[in-house]
Amino acid sequence: MAAWDVFRNDLMKDKTVLITGGGTGMGEAMTHAFSALGARVLIASRNAEHLQPVAEAATKASGNEVLWKTCDVRDVEQVQALADYASDNFDGALDVLVNNAAGNFLTPFDAMSHNAWNTVVGIVLGGTHNMLKATFPLLSKRGGAVTNMVATYAWGAAPLVSHSGAAKAGVLNLTKSLAVEWASHRIRLNAVAPGPVDTHGAGSRLFAEDDTKQTIIDSVPWKRFGTVDEMAAAVVYLSSPAADYVTGECLTIDGGQVLTNGLFA
Ligand code: COA
Repeated sequence: MAAWDVFRNDLMKDKTVLITGGGTGMGEAMTHAFSALGARVLIASRNAEHLQPVAEAATKASGNEVLWKTCDVRDVEQVQALADYASDNFDGALDVLVNNAAGNFLTPFDAMSHNAWNTVVGIVLGGTHNMLKATFPLLSKRGGAVTNMVATYAWGAAPLVSHSGAAKAGVLNLTKSLAVEWASHRIRLNAVAPGPVDTHGAGSRLFAEDDTKQTIIDSVPWKRFGTVDEMAAAVVYLSSPAADYVTGECLTIDGGQVLTNGLFA
């Protein structure tokens, strides 16, 4: 049973949903969750080989057609084309946006090239900005819910991933700023901060070695990695009417890991 199976299966019926990075990892789980709960889903990423099979599998599993379109979130024109595609297929209105596309790799700050910095900040912070600008007319049509995927290091230190840390901190602040600015448009914005989740992307880039994985598990009071379905369930909740009074919030889902730097932890 997936974590989001606890929701009523028409919770997202006919809601229009756009997920960036929707073909892999946590995004793939979100695609399945929203689709299974009745939504009309569009997924985007740079890579058609990631998108097409996931869209087909989710369509087959749910009976709801999942659309896909390639898009580099750093490219304003491609993002506008994605928003136009969403508008054409969703009658001009978007109920849910999930800014999940990310880029990350371990590198010390002093060894990080300008292009490496700009690449990660461009995907994470720039991409979120581009998506919000382009979809604002669709989200404001009948009100909407945005979830921005951040990380628990967004408000702490992010050694070896300082580009990602700075970008996620920016996304978190943007989430709060727009939660206030866009309340009058009936658009809620929240963030989800996953702790360690052993996706292919994160696993291969951030904790490739077995002993690194064990060190991470040891650091989590709950003594395991989080699952992609647990993250998807949180995004569904924040996007649902049950969270209608929740905006500008960041939901940490990390088995208690961020709490463990106390004197006796
Ligand atoms: N260590 C140090 N620098 C790195 C690096 C690494 N592991 N990987 C990439 N870079 C640098 C490159 O050298 C390049 O800088 P340079 O021109 O000065 O040499 C710069 O970052 C851009 O790399 P490039 O491969 O051209 O970018 P891209 O746009 O093709 O790919 C990435 C973007 C690098 C973020 C790539 O890892 C990616 O596509 N990630 C998507 C998935 C992801 O990261 N998800 C997050 C899971 S936690």
